Amino acid sequence: MDNHIKIFDTTLRDGEQSPGYSMNKPEKLRLALQLEKLGVDVIEAGFPIASDGDYETVKEIGKIIKKSTVAALCRTRDVDLERAVAAVQHAAKPRIHTFIATSDIHLKYKLQQTREQVLESAVRAVEYAKSHYDDVEFSAEDASRSDPDFLIEIFTAVIEAGATTINVPDTVGYALPWEYADLIKTLNENIPNIHKAVISVHCHNDLGLAVANSLMAVQNGARQIECTVNGIGERAGNASLEEVVMAIETRKNIMNYTTSINTKEIFPSSQMLSQITGKGVQPNKAIVGENAFAHEAGIHQHGVLKNPLTYEIMTPESVGLTCNKIVIGKHSGRFALCKKLEELGYFLEKEDLNRVYVKVTQLADEKKVVEDHDLVSILALMNNTPKKPSQKLASGG
Ligand code: KIV
Ligand code: ZN
Repeated sequence: MDNHIKIFDTTLRDGEQSPGYSMNKPEKLRLALQLEKLGVDVIEAGFPIASDGDYETVKEIGKIIKKSTVAALCRTRDVDLERAVAAVQHAAKPRIHTFIATSDIHLKYKLQQTREQVLESAVRAVEYAKSHYDDVEFSAEDASRSDPDFLIEIFTAVIEAGATTINVPDTVGYALPWEYADLIKTLNENIPNIHKAVISVHCHNDLGLAVANSLMAVQNGARQIECTVNGIGERAGNASLEEVVMAIETRKNIMNYTTSINTKEIFPSSQMLSQITGKGVQPNKAIVGENAFAHEAGIHQHGVLKNPLTYEIMTPESVGLTCNKIVIGKHSGRFALCKKLEELGYFLEKEDLNRVYVKVTQLADEKKVVEDHDLVSILALMNNTPKKPSQKLASGG
């Protein structure tokens, strides 16, 4: 089996669907270009039936993106399909992504349809999409809460009708990693024509398991992961692109997979999204959070300054950050303080360093983080005159 994992980015569709993350057309075009630079295989550009704006945006994205596949989402209804087909008409690599729910709870309360009706709509939709484009993805919404036998039946039928990717969404983020792994394994082993399609996964993060579930799926045969920058998406979000990709990169010793992502574009992509939406990520967010490469504890700072491998499993440079961050706070030690002061241009004798250290710990008790300008003020006060970088405290005071 091929070990390449396709990265399907749905920041502009599932991500944009979440409250507070809507983007206008120029913003989406800018982000689409950045996603292409990041190296994603597929950009899900939008849901063209949702609005005229969405339709126009998908169409424009199709015109400017050359390397990545551009996907348009649609339900299995005729109007949706027609709109999606038209929206990707200019794309160099168009994909139609059609979906319908398959769980009994959705069939009964949302669709009010029987399994036979759902299967028939799915096949008709795939046939229609296939009559326009080669690349067709079918998603069984709420797959993780669907009867696996029905999933086998519907996926077999849509592959027969021409689907080249079958997606198994954990729509409500309900699955546990081993349970989801079992489902993917069952589908992989029991869909007779599965060799004609790629298994895709689309995990939501309601229990904080979206990334774990996606990785378990890969271990059991999935070869496409649907994810978003900064993990944005409906409710608690989707699997985070940066976490999925860096887990694969960092643990190559255990997971022998490749992606086409240029990891150095991860941080710039995250920053662009935050800047566009006005919503940053939490400081402790893996990979792209403000603290992801920051060290405050003295023991950690000492280790990292001697050799980053002591406390960093990946380099900040590998995700597009210029360097790690030594934060001076109440847990910092003299070693880190000394390095920080040297960075600022102050080379202190031991005795002076001890005096500064006492002042810094006092300030850190009040302030949590001691900024560079605080250090400069402490040095200046201790010498009664402001100091400029590169002056030695001991000799210049
Ligand atoms: O969560 C979901 O099931 C979806 C589908 C449309 C793929 O977003
Ligand atoms: Zn979703």
